[in-house]
Amino acid sequence: MYELCPETDEDTPEIEALMDLCFAPGRTALSSYRLREGVPRVAPLCLCLRDDGDAVVAAIRYWPVRVDGRPVLLLGPVAVHPTAQGEGLGAFLMRESLSRAADMGWARVMLVGDAPYYGRFGFTRLDGVVMPPPTNPDRVLGLELVPDAWVDVRGDVRREESPGVRAALAEIEATVDLRQACIEVEPRTGTDEGACP
Ligand SMILES: CC(C)(COP(=O)(O)OP(=O)(O)OC[C@H]1O[C@@H](n2cnc3c(N)ncnc32)[C@H](O)[C@@H]1OP(=O)(O)O)[C@@H](O)C(=O)NCCC(=O)NCCS
Repeated sequence: MYELCPETDEDTPEIEALMDLCFAPGRTALSSYRLREGVPRVAPLCLCLRDDGDAVVAAIRYWPVRVDGRPVLLLGPVAVHPTAQGEGLGAFLMRESLSRAADMGWARVMLVGDAPYYGRFGFTRLDGVVMPPPTNPDRVLGLELVPDAWVDVRGDVRREESPGVRAALAEIEATVDLRQACIEVEPRTGTDEGACP
């Protein structure tokens, strides 16, 4: 059994440590971090899983970005503790957060990652969507939460600069009692079936 919770400020140091463990040193030098700096995250979609010992074993985060002036969810990072990898926790966080994103009304999601992994959730290469260099275009992947949401959406991926959007996301993060939203879950291990949102 795990506890699924939106990330709070109290969780952040533990989640940062998990990310440091799972990724190569210098992860914050990646171009995707420049898109996130100074921009409020999408707090209701930044989720973590705590095990029976109350340790964070998996986490996923989302930030808002813009492509061609359209709002886009930038998924990542997602990380699972090395001792718990391959048990379906990553897939559970992917599906749960994408389902919540659809419920929130987001139309399109993108990420930079391995197509062989993210393809199972419906992500495909996004031609013409350009991350700040250096980014391998083959790793720029997208998912439609609303049919045709990526059709004719092309161009550079930019930071979310809208004061209104930033203020709204900051207010959600500050005012919603995210801890209240924790639920007990039992991710089915080693499965990759289920609907791709
Ligand atoms: C990638 C990661 C999040 C996957 O989470 P997980 O809980 O281990 O994965 P799941 O149990 O949901 O899925 C396991 C399957 O994914 C595959 N897989 C894992 N990482 C993969 C990758 N980078 N490329 C292709 N397949 C991958 C496994 O081989 C396994 O395949 P199978 O179902 O055919 O046996 C996790 O392994 C991790 O934290 N890795 C280090 C950090 C990282 O690379 N994060 C992603 C970049 S943002």
